[in-house]
Amino acid sequence: MITNEEILKRRTFAIISHPDAGKTTLTEKLLLFGGAINTAGAVKNNKITKTATSDFLEIEKQRGISVATSVMGFEYAGHKVNILDTPGHKDFAEDTFRTLSAVDSVILVVDCVKGVEEQTRKLMQVCRMRNTPVIIFINKMDREGRDPYELLDELEKELNIHVRPLSWPIGIGSTFKGVYNIYDKQLRLFSANKTKLADDVVAIADINDEQIDGIIGSKDAEKLREDVAFLEEYYENFDLGLYREAYLAPVFFGSAVNNFGVGELLDTFVKVAPYPQPREASQREVRPEEQPFSGFIFKIHANLDPNHRDRIAFCRVCSGKFERNKFYYHTRLDKKIRFSSPTSFMANEKTLLEEAWPGDVVGLYDTGSFKIGDTLTEGEKLHFKGLPSFSPEIFKEAVNKDPFKTKQLDKGIRQLTDEGVAQLFVQQPGSRKIIGTVGELQFDVIKFRLQQEYGATCDLHNLNYYKACWITSDDKAALERFISFKGSSIAYDKDENPVYFAGTAWELRSVQEAYPALKFHFTSDFKFEAVAQA
Ligand code: G4P
Repeated sequence: MITNEEILKRRTFAIISHPDAGKTTLTEKLLLFGGAINTAGAVKNNKITKTATSDFLEIEKQRGISVATSVMGFEYAGHKVNILDTPGHKDFAEDTFRTLSAVDSVILVVDCVKGVEEQTRKLMQVCRMRNTPVIIFINKMDREGRDPYELLDELEKELNIHVRPLSWPIGIGSTFKGVYNIYDKQLRLFSANKTKLADDVVAIADINDEQIDGIIGSKDAEKLREDVAFLEEYYENFDLGLYREAYLAPVFFGSAVNNFGVGELLDTFVKVAPYPQPREASQREVRPEEQPFSGFIFKIHANLDPNHRDRIAFCRVCSGKFERNKFYYHTRLDKKIRFSSPTSFMANEKTLLEEAWPGDVVGLYDTGSFKIGDTLTEGEKLHFKGLPSFSPEIFKEAVNKDPFKTKQLDKGIRQLTDEGVAQLFVQQPGSRKIIGTVGELQFDVIKFRLQQEYGATCDLHNLNYYKACWITSDDKAALERFISFKGSSIAYDKDENPVYFAGTAWELRSVQEAYPALKFHFTSDFKFEAVAQA
């Protein structure tokens, strides 16, 4: 049993949603409720504008503040809450996936008008594979949305999870009067208000309390009683164990922009959400209460100021206590490194940190020692799992434009791909560099940053591949034969694994049929295959 208070009080989570459902608004409101910020707008700017498909200047401007908002920590009701930001734009889905490896639970925001959307499905699939507990917040109840029962059915069916409403709306859109909190037996009355923090809360004895009729009218009160009776009968009781096993998702209704339902969401969240959980390494499971420190890098952020070339590597602490100025073992490089100015992230401020505990995210200044997925320990050779690369869909060849800058270009491409901006595949002979991404936006980022940060210019030539797949086989000879036969369609990833480039879907299918001894994978960590194919 864990007795360390530092571990028990931490709640590290991410808010996820399909773009536009209200993730940014809810993040900001949680920070306001948590007392971490005083004014709205601090998080809002961190978002890549939905219409910007290739506006890198906009991205750069926004990246300026996104280091601070990548992790937002604050103290609330005796807990240390760490919110990890995930980019909303679908071109950065891989970044989101990696961030989800560093959280212990998520809050999923669903728009009550639109219900389950494409990204909602994909993100939830990731959560299910990792057994990440989920709380669902149905947002925008001030709009004429869908029937709540219909929404719950859709959530269960499409997201393949059991749901349990812990609050229930009274009306919707223009008739929305508030929610009844089934968990706390309270009536919360809605008033559209973007600045006020406190909800109007009426504590009632139980659902039959006549006060309710006086407040919302007999007709709505009757309907509420019927609804709650039905919910109690139809849905299984809220069971903390089932939620933490990611089998059951509690559901709340509210309106983030109006600060409605956010306070109760946060109150329930800190009570029920799990404290830092064990993490799986290739060698063994690592438990948070273990004494020696261990952690892994899930995100790397470059400093855009040309005078300060360093980067910040974000390390999730998995076990033990991280301490400033202590030597830690970088398992991939097989060397010890000491960090003299690690940072912690409290709200939107970075501060020097002396120690950190499991669940915390430490910002480490890095001059090029880290790649996504790197592990730090006190000496044990561990490697944390669950940070795969996905099969890219857009490919371009990087062709150097300035022969005097070859070294800079090589270094730039290596470092950007280490950061996880894109994937690099090298094809022989000639060390042809193929850059693969899941979205167009990354190429703008790459070109811009190569020039700004490394002084290198290159042309990016379109390559008409359909998919790149990692290939493996139990039959080594068959794999080698395939590689030598398909030479011009084979390249190697950052870890020297062979990757097959298929020109079309048809070509991929026919190769799969023709070579049954080979396996074609759509992620570099094959456990996550299903997500990649979704
Ligand atoms: P995202 O991060 O998930 O992409 O969504 P974001 O919070 O930016 O919200 C998307 C839009 O939905 C925003 O409007 C936001 O104000 C609005 N919104 C969020 N919560 C609610 C709610 O409870 N009710 C209603 N009616 N709207 C909500 P926008 O017009 O795109 O931006 P803005 O000009 O309002 O900032």
